[in-house]
Amino acid sequence: MTLTDTFTLANDVKIPVVGFGTWQTPDGDVAYQATLDALNAGYRHIDTAAFYGNEESVGRAIADSGIARNELFVTTKLWNADHGYAQAQAALALSLQKLGLDYVDLYLIHWPNPVAFRNEWQQRNADTWRAMEEAYNDGKARAIGVSNFQVHHLEELFKTATIKPMVNQLFLNPSDTEDEVVAFDNAHNILNEAYSPLGTGAIFDLPEVQAVADRLNKTVAQVVLRWSLDKGFLPLPKSTHTERIIENGQLFDFELSAEDTAVIDGLHGKFGFHKEADQVEF
Ligand code: A2P
Repeated sequence: MTLTDTFTLANDVKIPVVGFGTWQTPDGDVAYQATLDALNAGYRHIDTAAFYGNEESVGRAIADSGIARNELFVTTKLWNADHGYAQAQAALALSLQKLGLDYVDLYLIHWPNPVAFRNEWQQRNADTWRAMEEAYNDGKARAIGVSNFQVHHLEELFKTATIKPMVNQLFLNPSDTEDEVVAFDNAHNILNEAYSPLGTGAIFDLPEVQAVADRLNKTVAQVVLRWSLDKGFLPLPKSTHTERIIENGQLFDFELSAEDTAVIDGLHGKFGFHKEADQVEF
């Protein structure tokens, strides 16, 4: 396996098995350089969001990389203020403009239940999804999906959807494997993407993983990202340091034994759990 190997989504679109995460990567030079470093290191899958505020910098790096558009996989996400049919259409148009792209490879609803629409989240998601299905049919998004959806949010969406989400992007790492929704996604051929695969850095404080890494002569990041792939997740590691970006892509020259995997499985709850989507304050 390599960074350009792919999973196949329900609609047969291929998605590179590791994505470069850009949450908490500041707009401007930092996001530009990090994205360029990732592309130079061989990543072909970049994950951003309107909310991250860095779509323009990410888009500039993509353009300057000189890599053919059809060799890249670019994801962005619809923010909470934009739930609704017309709002979603406008939000995607703005994201495409900022990214400097004619289409994205994947467009996601970032959260299922914004605080502003808490009494009507079902209808908002249905309307948003209708706009996303149209964008898909019009070729503005090669695949569409969701993020942070739990089972009841998906079941609600299925009542009106004519196209099922192809992806659910979740907080997935050794501390929280979200077993219920992951099983549901797997049963519905929805790919589970892992954001915060390194626990937004918390993994580096755990001596258990360091011991596994030392034994394999790999790093903590590499061991945990490999574990994520082994679970069938698509990890989206974030870094703003060139050498770490390179390191996080070197996951394919070793294997975790059952014993190593058990050590990492044993870290459940060590650095907390996903946010409850129905209770977020945004
Ligand atoms: P930085 O961006 O300063 O390199 P996650 O992917 O779970 O969101 O985790 C991202 C966090 O982990 C960031 O703080 C990032 O720091 C740090 N990080 C990413 N890759 C590595 C690595 N290979 N070694 C050490 N820290 C890393």
